[in-house]
Amino acid sequence: NQLANIVRPLLRWYAENARTLPWRDEPTPYRVWVSEIMLQQTRVEAVKPYFERFTAELPDIAALAGAPEEQLLKLWEGLGYYSRVRNLQKAARAVMENFGGVLPKTPEELLRLPGIGEYTAGAIASIAYGQPAPAVDGNVLRVIARVTADRSNISETAVKREFAGRLREIYPKEQAGAFTQSLMELGATVCLPNAEPKCGECPLSPLCAAHAQGTERELPVKSAK
Ligand code: ADE
Ligand code: SF4
Repeated sequence: NQLANIVRPLLRWYAENARTLPWRDEPTPYRVWVSEIMLQQTRVEAVKPYFERFTAELPDIAALAGAPEEQLLKLWEGLGYYSRVRNLQKAARAVMENFGGVLPKTPEELLRLPGIGEYTAGAIASIAYGQPAPAVDGNVLRVIARVTADRSNISETAVKREFAGRLREIYPKEQAGAFTQSLMELGATVCLPNAEPKCGECPLSPLCAAHAQGTERELPVKSAK
């Protein structure tokens, strides 16, 4: 697996360069879940104050399950995509009923909850529970496509699954959560989209196939479909 060599440099880089973000202080399953739902359609800087307020007012799954709709909508006001917070509460109620108030650990069980797809299930399983489950978002797809100089169309579900499969093979047992976040973080701060990758600051540049070829600005290939 061409990716095996990225693990150590990425973890080392992440240990030194991770941004301090409110959900990273105390990555409980509930806090990871809420943050990932907010981050699905909203930028990190915008999410920060919403996350702080939401988790202060509703500190756990039981509080979320019992919150009046009015309070929920107010906490979400300005974030948009209100179906996200409705699903969050539906899922919290399901967790209270079916899992005794504890968010399940496996991606399979997580996937059955409203609002949790492949990406969010992987993020919770790895960041909160330390399991070797990839969380493949746009940032991660871009990093992998570039490191491997892969011209597959990342808009295709089959390609996303393929990348997730390659990642699953290389997950470090001890630091699954840090590895998930290191990939997201590199995509968000260094391996930037379009013409902006900062290869000069990148811990993967010595082993990046696209950088070696000079094709990083052409990747990833994606087409709306
Ligand atoms: N984007 C999505 N998930 C994230 C996380 N856990 N940290 C920073 N940015 C993210
Ligand atoms: Fe991205 Fe450049 Fe790093 Fe390759 S070397 S992973 S293109 S930032």
